Amino acid sequence: MSSAVDSAVRPLEIRTLGTRSRAMLHELGTTLAAAYGSLSNPRCRQAISAFAANMDGELREKIRPPATDSGICVVRGLFVDERSLGRTPPIWSAVDEAASLPTDLQMLLLGSMIGRPFGWRGQQEGRLVNNVMPARGYENVQTGASSSLLLSPHTEDAFHPHRSHVFLLSCIRNVDAVATTISSVRDVELSPADRETLLRPTIPIMPDLTYGDMERWGPAGPIPTLWERSDGLCLRYDPDFTPWTEADPEYQAAYRRLSEELERVGMRVVLEPGDVAIVDNDVVVHGRVPFTARFDGTDRWLKRVNIAMPDRPRPVTELDENGYGQQVEYLCLESK
Ligand SMILES: [Fe+2]
Repeated sequence: MSSAVDSAVRPLEIRTLGTRSRAMLHELGTTLAAAYGSLSNPRCRQAISAFAANMDGELREKIRPPATDSGICVVRGLFVDERSLGRTPPIWSAVDEAASLPTDLQMLLLGSMIGRPFGWRGQQEGRLVNNVMPARGYENVQTGASSSLLLSPHTEDAFHPHRSHVFLLSCIRNVDAVATTISSVRDVELSPADRETLLRPTIPIMPDLTYGDMERWGPAGPIPTLWERSDGLCLRYDPDFTPWTEADPEYQAAYRRLSEELERVGMRVVLEPGDVAIVDNDVVVHGRVPFTARFDGTDRWLKRVNIAMPDRPRPVTELDENGYGQQVEYLCLESK
């Protein structure tokens, strides 16, 4: 199997798990699932952290954030038992958690080797592993449950100061070869003036519909679209939830040019079962091409794990943001 990629800018970094690493992860996932039965068991969470901390060798070498400015790499070879996982559920809440547990544990082991996996209390009931599949009635809504429309390029949970630094997207099923879109801000070409403009805190980013009614949190503060990290330029971008047309004309023009550039440098990655994309949420924006969902149990099914990396500081001004009341829950309390 292979992850197809269509890139105008740079090749996709692919790392293939060796047989031993693949078998070890699979065995750990299966054993921990049998021993603890649920992620709500604190001992299960502690075991994940302990095993991840002691993992070394090839696996640790393969599971690290992307090495290049592309902001994405794909680790290939995770053991995915499609038969045990069953048909693609019609909605995230219908996922058979027991059947998914061995796979979810493998993902959390990988995530814990990178940083601190977390869930959102207000999204998918706080689950640490989110499920992404098309849902009937959401075909044309800008969330991961959509299908018929282009899921616009965006930073995951861009509205929140505690958004993931890195997230994992693993593929359970994708028989229609539906592509994930990826654009790196490190590949865009902007004039110095546009760059300066977009570094200015000017407009807010609102939460998407999966977080419910946010109006009670009052007026949202302006944030910058671009920001600097020690290794280069980063972005915080979600045009469908940003009132950017209310900004001054100079900002609007710069924002539009950034959007055009992100489209120009975009690449399409087709994940296949057993692929795990490691995505730098500060360097790239991601989306998905439109497709026609069948809702018959064979649709595309991805799993996502959000990861915080405390050693990657963000602008100090983010400390003042209220995050619209959304709170994270980490896999484990202790800091990595
Ligand atoms: Fe997303």
